[in-house]
Amino acid sequence: MNSTIHTLLNHRSIRKFKDLPLTDEQIDAIIGAAQQASTSSYMMAYSIIGVTDSELKSALADISGQPYVKQNGHLLVFCADLHRQTHLASNEEYSEMIENLENSEHFLVSAIDAALAAQNAAIAAESLGLGICYLGSLRNDISKVDQLLDLPKHVIPLFGMAIGHPAHQPDLKPRLPKKAVYFENQYKEHDESLRAFDKEIAGYYESRSSNSRTDTWTEQMKRRFMKTMRMDVTDLVQKKGFNKR
Ligand SMILES: Cc1cc2nc3c(=O)[nH]c(=O)nc-3n(C[C@H](O)[C@H](O)[C@H](O)COP(=O)(O)O)c2cc1C
Repeated sequence: MNSTIHTLLNHRSIRKFKDLPLTDEQIDAIIGAAQQASTSSYMMAYSIIGVTDSELKSALADISGQPYVKQNGHLLVFCADLHRQTHLASNEEYSEMIENLENSEHFLVSAIDAALAAQNAAIAAESLGLGICYLGSLRNDISKVDQLLDLPKHVIPLFGMAIGHPAHQPDLKPRLPKKAVYFENQYKEHDESLRAFDKEIAGYYESRSSNSRTDTWTEQMKRRFMKTMRMDVTDLVQKKGFNKR
């Protein structure tokens, strides 16, 4: 196995970091790797905000309710960004472009671009011996994050990433069996492998070194989708000019 695949297969989210900031060289390497990700039609339709202001970090940690949003070596917020695409257009060009820019296709493009850049950043960080945790919890109050980061129209915050020197080593979290996620030629239901996975994950939750509990993946998913969640996201997304048609 080569070292890249070794890094990928050893990923686990890190939620406790040493009190040690990343160096400028580490940040440059991580952002450089993020920027080199593939990007749809060369659009580079994302921005990354590095949060260094401690009050701003605290405000974002309050929104997320997760202490590692504040206590980490560096905090990044990944945004879908279509602002640059029209920034230099004349008024006449802008009004012609806007209908197309604000469709679902470009919402997807910008979210995918941001996610690819983020995952490159994650792998770069982990390859440097650092740990990361993605932070969808910033969307607990997406409008407040939008306002705190002063994002213009056609820029929305998608998720954060806490990066730092790991202060714990959680067990690796099992993934669905290959049969459940990889199909040849046509989609296939795979109840059998989901049931087998539920058994495996029940064992993992019972025996893991911290936060042990009785649970299965299926039960977790049912709990998740039996309740409404972050219904305000659509409003902000559309108010900022994304996914309007
Ligand atoms: C987009 C995204 C958002 C996430 N948001 C959070 C979060 O807000 N808080 C958190 O503790 N973990 C968050 N995670 C981490 C997932 O919970 C974690 O990746 C998943 O449970 C698998 O565990 P592992 O990363 O340790 O393998 C997020 C992951 C992704 C990809």
